[in-house]
Amino acid sequence: MAAPLIRVEGLHKHYEIKGGRSVPVLHDVNLSIAAGEFVAIMGPSGSGKSTFMNILGCLDTPSSGHYFLNGQDVAELGHDELASLRNSLIGFVFQGFNLLKRVAALDNVALPLLYAGVGRTERRLRALEALQQTGLKKFAQSLPNQLSGGQQQRVAIARALINRPPLILADEPTGNLDTRTSQEIMEVFTRLNREQGITIILVTHEHDIAHYADRLVRFVDGRVERDGAAL
Ligand SMILES: Nc1ncnc2c1ncn2[C@@H]1O[C@H](COP(=O)(O)OP(=O)(O)O)[C@@H](O)[C@H]1O
Ligand SMILES: [Mg+2]
Repeated sequence: MAAPLIRVEGLHKHYEIKGGRSVPVLHDVNLSIAAGEFVAIMGPSGSGKSTFMNILGCLDTPSSGHYFLNGQDVAELGHDELASLRNSLIGFVFQGFNLLKRVAALDNVALPLLYAGVGRTERRLRALEALQQTGLKKFAQSLPNQLSGGQQQRVAIARALINRPPLILADEPTGNLDTRTSQEIMEVFTRLNREQGITIILVTHEHDIAHYADRLVRFVDGRVERDGAAL
């Protein structure tokens, strides 16, 4: 059987703060996520959801325990190996869209390719393809402030897709959007999961949003309190 895309074992995280004190955030988290799953993460504010997502995204490291990404113990990787694994496997979507304001949608989407040294023509083609996947191709030349919040988030999802990653991590991607727009964004994620088999892990506060997922993991005080089928 293939290794799960994500496996965490005995994961603990604490932050060191001033005065030599340590703030515990995650306690003994054990979780596997297979390729192709659509998982919602819920839990009260401060329960460790973003900390957990940052560890899954290799943006932060556990204090103890193991994280295997695609079968690889990420603690064994050097800085460059980790960056290249992250770039090839993971697309990130954030609550605040994080688009460059003075740059057209197309160029926002293509930005990761610019950093990767991909030539202009290919950047353009692939960015248009990614915008097509989120239904925003005709807004390729628009600036972020000419787009609605939902459209901006579609640009951000297209940017997350640009390296054709098998995994998307989204931390409260509908947190700044109204209900109707949130549903549209969730339909985009659902389509990417169903039609392209992209694994989606998404943090949300809202049950209506979590319903789009197949599996619901609930954190309370840094522990997994529930892990099962989404209702
Ligand atoms: N860099 C940090 N330094 C110290 N404490 C932090 C840091 N990041 C998060 N925390 C604390 O960790 C806890 C969990 O935060 P977080 O993972 O952001 O929760 P959530 O996303 O569920 O709201 C909170 O108590 C928060 O204050
Ligand atoms: Mg958070």
